[in-house]
Amino acid sequence: MTSGDRKKTGLARGLTNYGDPAFSLYLRRSFAKSMGYSSDLLGRPVVGIADSRSGFNNCHRHFPELIEAVKRGVLAAGALPVEFPTTSLGEVFLYPTSMMFRNLMSIDVEEMIRAQPMDAVVLVGGCDKTVPAQLMGAASADIPAVQLLAGPMMPTSFQGERLGACTDCRRFWAMHRAGKVDEKGIDEIEGNLATTAGTCAVMGTASTMASIAEALGMALPGTAAIPAVHADRLRAAEASGKRAAELAKSPLRPSQVITEKSVQNALRVLLAIGGSTNAIVHLTAIAGRAGVDVSLQRLNELSDSTPVLVDLKPTGQYYMSDLYAAGGVGAVLRELKPLLHLDCMTVAGITLGEVIERHTPWVDRSVVRELKNPLAAQGGLVALFGSLAPNGAILKRSAADAKLFEKEGRAIVFSSLDDLSARIDDPTLEVTADDFLVLQNAGPKSGYAMPEAGYLPIPAKLARAGVKDMVRISDARMSGTAYGTIVLHVSPEAAVGGALALARNGDRIRLSVKERRIDLAVPEGELQRRKAAWKPPVAPPTRGYAKLYMDHVLQAEHGCDFDFLRKA
Ligand code: FES
Repeated sequence: MTSGDRKKTGLARGLTNYGDPAFSLYLRRSFAKSMGYSSDLLGRPVVGIADSRSGFNNCHRHFPELIEAVKRGVLAAGALPVEFPTTSLGEVFLYPTSMMFRNLMSIDVEEMIRAQPMDAVVLVGGCDKTVPAQLMGAASADIPAVQLLAGPMMPTSFQGERLGACTDCRRFWAMHRAGKVDEKGIDEIEGNLATTAGTCAVMGTASTMASIAEALGMALPGTAAIPAVHADRLRAAEASGKRAAELAKSPLRPSQVITEKSVQNALRVLLAIGGSTNAIVHLTAIAGRAGVDVSLQRLNELSDSTPVLVDLKPTGQYYMSDLYAAGGVGAVLRELKPLLHLDCMTVAGITLGEVIERHTPWVDRSVVRELKNPLAAQGGLVALFGSLAPNGAILKRSAADAKLFEKEGRAIVFSSLDDLSARIDDPTLEVTADDFLVLQNAGPKSGYAMPEAGYLPIPAKLARAGVKDMVRISDARMSGTAYGTIVLHVSPEAAVGGALALARNGDRIRLSVKERRIDLAVPEGELQRRKAAWKPPVAPPTRGYAKLYMDHVLQAEHGCDFDFLRKA
């Protein structure tokens, strides 16, 4: 699009090139009229609605109703709503993992926003990778954008307890593996874990990214935690449409909202809510599209001075719908006020400080603690460095067993996910609860595209003996709904020859959360010998998106974005 086209509005933006702009507009309006639009509507500013619904995405099944509500908001504010489909990423329906396709979706979102004539856009997403992809795409396209979240699922009442995806999915599966839940029991539970539309019910990646979208200022205040099936979610959709229509006439661009300060605010919120480790990768990628760097050293500084305030699973006891009833993300922002940059602008057109002032002060203290009475004095996430992870690794200490934080152990190494699944439950596997389980070749360039495989299962014979946690180390990610003493995102990853690739069975590994270190205690000469013998685990793909991905994906500390998509 030329700068001249950018100054045009509505259907006149970005005309298809036939060598005669007036003809192009006439043709576009004529074809638009075939959809029954009046000349009046076609003359208005256009608000695009990026729809990420798919039959392969259970979390987004309520989007038709949500999008109708967005449209009424846009129309009420005097603009023309036009929905368009984009890639959808349903977390559990993608092979090898949704992570591989986050950047693809971001490209789709960016290019469709830019290529089609819209003055503003409402991004409708929710499932784990969809919100990061939409925010990345919108930050790169840099036209006014409002993020509308799917909202969380409701927990289900089941045999006297509440169940919600997906911390409870893992809890029951671990019990099943340990022989405490039989086949019939696990079948029944399968039908009761995810029973409504919306995203996973706990503070997993989707809920974390929703909270981050609100903290960044890209979603309207108060909208992150509204349950998917609550009428307030529809009102939030209508309000998002209305606000996008206003932004179409009086632009406020993502580049004015996603700034170094607002990213820092989002990191504070991520830490205070005990959010998902995945969110570090995604927020780094979103920030990178706006030219903002997120360093893991800075994460540690913020983590040391940001207490955990929110008591949600997987680290606590409540569900996302409880957070909404307790005051929502606004209640968290209100507590964090002394630590936040209050002058950051939000898509609502007011600063974060004004958002906090307008937030109702009522809060349920069992779910959102006071700053002076936190659940934990320090943030939920910590970055580790050392000879095993020179460029960093992540541990979710709020979901880990503190008894394992200062420990040296013997490495039990699995060379790949296939090796892991072949041997982890082998009764002859020599392993004790004091060992460190190490998984290699599950990082961004491993051929598995950094799956959520870092939650290595406790070997069956130990699980049956009652072992609930062990130190586990990998270059993979972990579901935001999982828990345990799990070191993730080790960088450089094994598949590019990082130190993780050089670990062998029986090596000693030292973990010190206090010192922020993870070290492979092997003499340098021996490491050099192993390095000389190292070979890449997979042949590089030769065609299609897999090749694009493999040629350009960056390591975890750069958000696993493609090198050519980050803002210089
Ligand atoms: Fe969609 Fe968990 S599967 S948010």
